Amino acid sequence: MTWREDQRVAWPMKKLGHAQLGAREGAMLYYLARDWASGARPLVELGSFLGGSASLTGAGLKDNPLWNGQTKLHCFDIFEAKYGNMAEFIRTRVDPDFEAGQNFQYLFDAQTAEVSEAIEVHRGDLMQASWSGGEIDMLFVDIAKTPDLNRITLQRFLPALRVETGLLVNQDFHNPDNPWIHTSLGFLSSHFELIEPRADDSILLRLVRPIPPEALREAGRFEDLPDEEAMNRVNRLMSLLRQNDAEPAMSSWSAPGCRFAPATARRGAPRSRRRWPATARGIPRPISSGSGGQTRCRRWRDPSGLISLT
Ligand SMILES: C[S@@+](CC[C@H](N)C(=O)[O-])C[C@H]1O[C@@H](n2cnc3c(N)ncnc32)[C@H](O)[C@@H]1O
Repeated sequence: MTWREDQRVAWPMKKLGHAQLGAREGAMLYYLARDWASGARPLVELGSFLGGSASLTGAGLKDNPLWNGQTKLHCFDIFEAKYGNMAEFIRTRVDPDFEAGQNFQYLFDAQTAEVSEAIEVHRGDLMQASWSGGEIDMLFVDIAKTPDLNRITLQRFLPALRVETGLLVNQDFHNPDNPWIHTSLGFLSSHFELIEPRADDSILLRLVRPIPPEALREAGRFEDLPDEEAMNRVNRLMSLLRQNDAEPAMSSWSAPGCRFAPATARRGAPRSRRRWPATARGIPRPISSGSGGQTRCRRWRDPSGLISLT
């Protein structure tokens, strides 16, 4: 099953129109939470709005056969229509009487009602928020609309992403209004592997190496970054995208129905079974074909150049 071939899971969200999210990225979130997440470590969403992405990620977690019934998707949002076109969006699509600045959490609660047992809400300004819930499987970012919010994401949430298996979905990536995302991810590009270049506005990356705190701080620089250094970082990001193009057409991931391989299984895998070559920068790709009695999951490029998972 792939989010590229079948986005029906996201159709109710699109039909209702109560989301600033595409069907592809919505379906991707569902399948990642269902088939990739451990079911025992939290998922974090920054920017929940009316609950489109949360309802799909929460549904995926609930449908995950390994879900322990306690692990949550943690949703961070201020739930007040005071940014951008939010009030207008709600007025035209949901409630004609909705006023600017009004609280919209009742709409989030309604859209996520069916998965509420898999969700924990953190209401408030992200500038004051932090994370103390331990390692996370997936960080979904749909809030990095300013350099400051991007820095909070980098410094307070990204450090919790589990190295080797942790996934970063950045929904602000394919938006030219947010260039700080490109300079920061460019600076950090050697720590990530590209999994999905584009699903609607989202990019999907896997954290392959721990990021030192000083690198996270430096990655958040934007306003005072000299133009030349900004361009260097963007070029590094381009290398990450090009590197992926240069890789073999097929590699394997170990997963039951696409589940994470235990890190120990990957470390123990014989070299000859490792399908990913060293990258141009000489950083070995740690994913092997896996073992430990788990089903394999194949990943390849479809003719459009996009990556699918089955
Ligand atoms: C693009 S919307 C998220 C869309 C959502 N993921 C969906 O599926 O429809 C961005 C959200 O970020 C929230 N937001 C923006 N700035 C914030 C801040 N400083 N603190 C908390 N939430 C904020 C907004 O309230 C809004 O709900």
